[in-house]
Amino acid sequence: MAFKFKKQLFGFMDLLRFKKLVPNRRAAFDAASSAPLPKTFKVNETAKILHPGNQTAKLVEIVKETADTKTYTFELSKKMFFRAGQYVEVSANVDGSLVNRPYAISSSPLTALKEGKLSVTVKKAGFFSNWLFDNANVGDEMIIGDPSGQFHYEAIKDEEVVVGIAGGSGITPFYSMAKAISEGVEDFKLILLYGAKTEKDIAFKEQLDSLVSDKFKVVYVLSDEKKNDKYESGFITKELIAKYAPEKFTVMACGPQAMYAFLDKQLSSMGIGGKRVKKEANCVSARDVKKAEYNITVHIRDNVYTVKADSRETVLVAMERAGLKVPSKCRAGGCGFCHSKLVSGKFSIAGADKRRLADLKFGYIHPCCSYPDSDMEIIVPAGLE
Ligand code: FES
Repeated sequence: MAFKFKKQLFGFMDLLRFKKLVPNRRAAFDAASSAPLPKTFKVNETAKILHPGNQTAKLVEIVKETADTKTYTFELSKKMFFRAGQYVEVSANVDGSLVNRPYAISSSPLTALKEGKLSVTVKKAGFFSNWLFDNANVGDEMIIGDPSGQFHYEAIKDEEVVVGIAGGSGITPFYSMAKAISEGVEDFKLILLYGAKTEKDIAFKEQLDSLVSDKFKVVYVLSDEKKNDKYESGFITKELIAKYAPEKFTVMACGPQAMYAFLDKQLSSMGIGGKRVKKEANCVSARDVKKAEYNITVHIRDNVYTVKADSRETVLVAMERAGLKVPSKCRAGGCGFCHSKLVSGKFSIAGADKRRLADLKFGYIHPCCSYPDSDMEIIVPAGLE
């Protein structure tokens, strides 16, 4: 059917307005300032602070928090801002190869913005964390990436009260949140249930206690000690959550996989799930299968490499072991930064498949959480140069 235009009468006033267009524009030009446009605009400056990109940072302090946890403080070359709870990627040269891992930020957003300093708190576990423990020294230069991750308070989605559940080094993002709340950068109430084995395993105890206010409360839950007036004993159960939580709350949890498995059961028996629960993803580690060796053909721009892969390790680790600079951030299948096109081969995914439907349809994988089950061929975006 042919489209019918609505006929309108072209009135006298329209003609008059049309006639005035050019003289009006000339008058506006004449009235405008002749000063040259500024070289930078506020919005660009803000964008640079929010997305500073990879930057060199100097390690200025190392503090031992517990027997297996240390805090590393860096002086940034560019000031930045982040949401309390986010992580950054820390990269360092290890035996000639650039190795990186994501770590939750333990310092406050204001310290990064005003003083240009940022801290990460690291538990001694895994290749890079062990390397940091044994080799990192004050004065070393490393690379810090953009703040990333969704593990932060969202006023639109979250309740006014957050019940934070931290296990071991999972305290890190909550410590940053507690500081941000006390500084007025974040505006929500945080009731933190912090699980550790013994009193000696509690990191930041003095600092957390000093931040307690009407908006922040901390309850220590020690699995290997008896209950007393300072601590709860055992695990973070539904009874304990109900004891401290108000009627309406959002759950944010950060800790080891075993804690999540236990917590899932507790929360589901309370009828709590879905959007009310946010869990910080853990980096994918090696899987427990019989060792097999495969070849992975990797295309990066116009270059083609063949790397050896161990069936127990992820495709990302295989490429990194071969010295390829490939993009990654969360190492947990969540950010999509390592998103690569699968040309051929079989693979298994660690945990739940977090790919989008379009990725499944067009054959994309996340090498950070894919284990090779055969020889593979993939096309990878270029990484950190
Ligand atoms: S590094 Fe985030 S999805 Fe792979």
